[in-house]
Amino acid sequence: MTGVVEIDVQHQQLVETFNRLNDAVKNRQSREEIYRIIDEAIELTRFHFETEERLMAQSGYSGIEWHKDRHKELIIDAQNLHKKLDYVGEEMFTEWFNHWPFADVLAHIRYADQQVEDHIVQSKAMH
Ligand SMILES: [Fe+2]
Ligand SMILES: [Fe+2]
Repeated sequence: MTGVVEIDVQHQQLVETFNRLNDAVKNRQSREEIYRIIDEAIELTRFHFETEERLMAQSGYSGIEWHKDRHKELIIDAQNLHKKLDYVGEEMFTEWFNHWPFADVLAHIRYADQQVEDHIVQSKAMH
């Protein structure tokens, strides 16, 4: 896959954080610990989106507005889920947690981000 190192490294960090979060839920870690990792994942996602949006702007990517809207939606979904988890009892926690929009972020990385990376690689090749 791909070719933009800064983006690829951050994607890898995101995947690792999501895996850590999934493990924490599976191993029934305390809520405090799970929330700590959720907030870390949200912060990392936010930081990554900023990086990607900067690189999109620099390379003149034409789909930037659409892509920024997707980023906004993913952040809002993640924040909403964190809020909802606060009201969920222990029996339902894992079930609710599975609504966490990780799958959406991972799908976003696979498809939408791949187009951005292809564009950046091509625009570099032309200079
Ligand atoms: Fe990304
Ligand atoms: Fe993206």
